[in-house]
This record gives sequence, structure tokens and C-alpha cells, in this order.
Amino acid sequence: MKEFDRLENEKQLGFLEQAKDLVQEFSEKLGHKATAAVITFGCQMNARDSEKLIGILRQAGFDIIEEESADFVVYNTCTVRDNANQKLYGRLGVAGGFKKRNPLMKIALCGCMMQEEVAVAKIRESYRFVDLVFGTHNLFKFPELLVQSLSQDGMIIDVWEKTDRIVEDLPIERKYPFKSGVNIMFGCDNFCTYCIVPYVRGRERSREAKDIIREVERLADDGVVEVMLLGQNVNSYGKGLENAPSFAELLQEVSQVKGIRRVRFMTSHPKDLSEDLIQVMKSSDKICRHLHLPLQSGSDRILKAMNRRYTRDRYMELALHIREEIPDIALTTDIMMGFPGETEADIEDTLDVIRRVGFDNAFTFIYSKRTGTPAASMPDQVSEEFVKEQFDRILKLVQETARTQVARYQGQVMDALIEEMNDHDPGLVTGRLSNNTIVHIPGTADMIGSIRPVKLDECHGFYYTGSLA
Ligand code: SAH
Ligand code: SF4
Ligand code: F3S
Repeated sequence: MKEFDRLENEKQLGFLEQAKDLVQEFSEKLGHKATAAVITFGCQMNARDSEKLIGILRQAGFDIIEEESADFVVYNTCTVRDNANQKLYGRLGVAGGFKKRNPLMKIALCGCMMQEEVAVAKIRESYRFVDLVFGTHNLFKFPELLVQSLSQDGMIIDVWEKTDRIVEDLPIERKYPFKSGVNIMFGCDNFCTYCIVPYVRGRERSREAKDIIREVERLADDGVVEVMLLGQNVNSYGKGLENAPSFAELLQEVSQVKGIRRVRFMTSHPKDLSEDLIQVMKSSDKICRHLHLPLQSGSDRILKAMNRRYTRDRYMELALHIREEIPDIALTTDIMMGFPGETEADIEDTLDVIRRVGFDNAFTFIYSKRTGTPAASMPDQVSEEFVKEQFDRILKLVQETARTQVARYQGQVMDALIEEMNDHDPGLVTGRLSNNTIVHIPGTADMIGSIRPVKLDECHGFYYTGSLA
């Protein structure tokens, strides 16, 4: 960490001490120990940020619960597609109802959506019961904002346009004791023409490798066996740092930390994926057999308009090369439909790539127009009917290829990290294979967090049922 970031960190720890007194006062006013909840939307980065918010709230003295009726509720928002925004407004309506019954309640909003001026303007106007609004760039200021919010009434808005800071030694409370996300970089410089992330998360900034390794070592000491390295485009890790390792080197180094048994990462941009990375993955039994490689579209014309900077041939060549080098890898992807100007011929091209690569799983999204992005002002925005028709075709094919790929392992024995009790059957536990496939086996709570050999008895499309081997 840079010196001025370290000083900021200390300052925030000071605010955290002040917050403790204020939370105690808050509890006295409420007549019970104050509760707090963090509601998370969006991707793994937001999930990790929420662990930071929870760590701070817990240290400040709140009881952490999962209900939105808590005395202090934080919504960590996403704005990648419009439906994420609509969901937030719906939930805020409900929170407003809770606040009517509990007027001391505090409602805070943070995350990507708060980086958009139009969203903040709407909150200011139509959701006046909100107490605190902050953004992605000043999340580290949460202790200070908590102090402010607990000591004054009225809406506090503190959103920064950008930042070059990485303040990283504040408390974090992991959702799972045995696995953790680890940020290796923030922001994105790719500017895919449909995407709002570069505008709301800012320019790409990598963390120092030694800070990352130190965090992973501490996590391992604390019982973590699996880490997931997080970034919007992990393959360009290190840009702007002096003497930084490549992503492949960093990954190798992380996988060698004592106590770490599994390493995953998200997300890889196809344009920057190196041969070194493939070789490092191939030669390590700790790096998971899973690569998420977003395709978006299989049409060269659309890929160009999206500014993805690869062609369909380049993508297929890469994907098939990876399958050849690491035959047991699971290749998953993101596909977007309804980009401006997209025609049936473009969809055919996408279907063709899906067929040839045979993805193990794919997330399919309908293009959502994001204000301020270049695609929003492109001509030929596509009609909803067209998208609905095509969506079903793509979904059907994706499900077919996924079924075939996942079924490849029926009858085999593979290691699974046991993650949780099964939601539906208390006699079962749920584990995850290295290739990210889920398996349900008979088991008990004490197995959670351990890696066990599991026989994959029966494939049910996307998951297996099995038994301890
Ligand atoms: N950095 C990652 C993606 C992060 S967003 C990458 O480039 O691979 C996750 C996915 O959301 C994207 O892969 C894309 O498929 C989808 N997405 C992003 N912007 C979108 C938009 N405006 N409309 C619909 N889907 C979008
Ligand atoms: Fe968005 Fe593209 Fe960056 Fe991914 S790489 S976050 S899709 S701009
Ligand atoms: Fe959403 Fe922000 Fe992630 S917009 S997808 S939460 S980076």
C-alpha cells in the first residue's frame, strides 16, 4: 500500500472507534442491540465489497442479520443491466415501508448504480427517506460515513467521480470461512461499447503483487483453502505497476501459498489470454479446471461494433486450443443478444460458435441500453420480439451443449469442496468440483470446508448426485 493510502487506512480505523460509541447510543435509543444488514446485487466484486461493509458494521458493534427490516440497511447496487436498477427501486419501496414502522432506521445505498448521476438524482427526488449514498470509489470511507450518518439527520451524498486510491486494510468478514474472493485489480479500461462498468468502476488499477500474496497467506492462516482472484479483466493484471508479474506468474505464485488447495479467477477477456496462462493452468493441480471466457457474440460484425477486439475465428481457435491442452477443463461463457443492428444472420453465427466450442455452461443476457455508453446512441436498436424469439434458440442450444459436457464425468471420482448443507434435504451436503460443477452427496455439517473424493453417480443436467468415494 502507498504511504498516503496507509494513512487514510489509519484515519478510517479511528472513525471505526468513534462509530462504536455511536452504535451503542443507537442501540440505547432503539431499546435493543442495533442490527444491520447488507443486501448485495451484481457480481463477485460487489460480493467482496459487501464482505468489507459487513466487517466494518460488525466491528462497529452491530448484530448482523439478513433481513431488510434491520436498523441499518445497506444496499450494494449493480447497474450492468436495467433490470438490476428496477429491482433496487422495488426493494427500496419495501425498505421505505419498514422505515415508517421504525423511524430510527437508517437506509444506505452504495455500489455501481450510485456512480450514475441520473440514479442519484432520482433517489434524491423520489426516495427522500434514504439516509446515505456513497459510491464504488470511496467505499473505504465507510467508517467515516457511518459516523456521519449516525450523528446527523438528512440525506448524506458522497460519490466520487474517480480514484487512484487502494486503501485495503479495513476489517472484512467472509461469507464462507473456507473460501474467499481476493481483488487483484479494480476498474476496467476495455470500454466494450455496451458496457457501463468502466464508467462506474473507473480506470483499471492493479494491486501490488506482494499485497495480494500477503492477503492470500493471511487467508490461508485463517483456514481458507480456496481463493478466487477477482478483476474485470484479470489477464491484463499489472498494467501501470513497476516490475509487476504477469497474471500467469501471479496465479502460479498464489497457488503456491501454503495451505491454499484451490485457486480460481474471474474474468478473463479473450483478447489478453496468454499461452503462459494456459501452461500454468495445465501444470498446476491447484488451479481449478474452469475458465470463464465471455464470447458475447459469434458474429465478427457485432464483435467489432462491441469493441471486443477479437474475431470469431480467434475466439474459437483459442477455445479449442485450451480444450486440447487441458481436456478436463470446463469452458463457460457470457452471451449477449439484441445488440444494436443484430440480425438473424448474426445469431446464426453465435449459434455456430456455441455448437463448435460446446460450452459447459453459458450465461445469456438480453442487451440493455446503458445511458452514456456508445452503443446507446447506435442506430437500429433491436425490437423486443426479435430478441425474445432468438433468446429461446440460444438458450436451448446452450443447455444442450452444457448437458453433454457436464455428463462427461458420470461414474468418475473427483474431489469436491463441501460448501454447504443442501437447501432442500437436510441429509445432503453440496460440494463443488474443480470444474465448478455442483454435486449433492449424503453428508453432515462437519464436512463443510473440507475437500473430499466423491463418486459422481448421476448427472442431472447441470449438477450431479453422488456419494463419498
Ligand atoms: N468483465 C467481464 C464482464 C463483466 S459484466 C468481461 O468482459 O468478460 C458481465 C456480463 O454482463 C458481460 O459479459 C456481458 O455479457 C453482460 N453485460 C454487460 N453489459 C451489458 C448490457 N449493457 N446489457 C446486457 N448485458 C450486459
Ligand atoms: Fe465491461 Fe468489457 Fe470491461 Fe467486461 S471488459 S467490464 S464487458 S467494458
Ligand atoms: Fe454490476 Fe458493478 Fe459488478 S455494475 S456486474 S456490480 S462491477
